[in-house]
Amino acid sequence: MNLNLNGRTAIVCGASKGLGRACALALAKEGVNLVINARNANALETTADEIRTETGVAVHAVAADISTEAGRAQVLAACPDPDILVTNAGGPPPGNFRDWDQQAWYAALDANMLTPIFLIKAVVDGMQERRFGRIINITSSAVKAPISILGLSNGARSGLTGFVAGLARETVAHNVTINNLLPGSFETDRLTSTVESYAKKLGVSADQVREQQMQASPAKRFGDPAEFGALCTFLCGAQAGFVTGQNLLLDGGAYPGTF
Ligand SMILES: NC(=O)c1ccc[n+]([C@@H]2O[C@H](COP(=O)([O-])OP(=O)(O)OC[C@H]3O[C@@H](n4cnc5c(N)ncnc54)[C@H](OP(=O)(O)O)[C@@H]3O)[C@@H](O)[C@H]2O)c1
Repeated sequence: MNLNLNGRTAIVCGASKGLGRACALALAKEGVNLVINARNANALETTADEIRTETGVAVHAVAADISTEAGRAQVLAACPDPDILVTNAGGPPPGNFRDWDQQAWYAALDANMLTPIFLIKAVVDGMQERRFGRIINITSSAVKAPISILGLSNGARSGLTGFVAGLARETVAHNVTINNLLPGSFETDRLTSTVESYAKKLGVSADQVREQQMQASPAKRFGDPAEFGALCTFLCGAQAGFVTGQNLLLDGGAYPGTF
């Protein structure tokens, strides 16, 4: 299928590794030129080099904290009129809600709710004028099935989801879609740290928790980030213009509900 993405431009945040990197690489394989972002400049440059070498597209790396106004300004200055925006940042830390003060909540809201909203605000009107735009927010399966130790994530991402549900119905008439991708368990550094945190809480080894989690999944495995990048890229393509305001779970069947 030709997704008609060759020559388009995308901003992909949180893209030096994990799911963001997988989305960036999959888009690049379709000929999309990239502005990628993460905080650690060395890791980001390495990823940019790898994607350039593998795909031949232009990749501009902007090392900045996307959860800050200054960081977002740097990224948007490098690409003020993207065709595609993939919002992503690290998830908030796990823990017990009794330990979280106002600052902890504000940090989670900044990274996982307000940052995507401000990035969307910066690009959506231009997309509408140009009559093409694809916005993907990387959120979490925790939006549909909350995970108790990830309370900061459950709360902040649900706020983003509610906001997007309204806006996505306004923009689609201009061929600008906004969808959320909800990862279950994918093989990334984030997964490793969540597993370690559970293991500590339960007093068992990380390998035991990993094995238990894989066996508890209908797929009996964790997801491959490339699978995530592939769906992201399809949703960015020309054929996906009728899909908007959706929360698409990629979890190997872990969510037990029918709807
Ligand atoms: N993997 C899973 O199984 C899973 C499941 C559910 C939800 N999620 C969510 O999906 C998102 C991506 O997860 P992942 O597994 O790909 O995580 P990851 O492997 O830890 O990668 C996170 C990426 O985001 C960057 N990043 C983090 N904070 C940032 C910030 N403030 N500004 C700019 N870049 C930032 C990181 O680079 P720097 O650290 O250098 O900035 C890195 O490139 C997270 O929000 C996570 O909570 C993941």
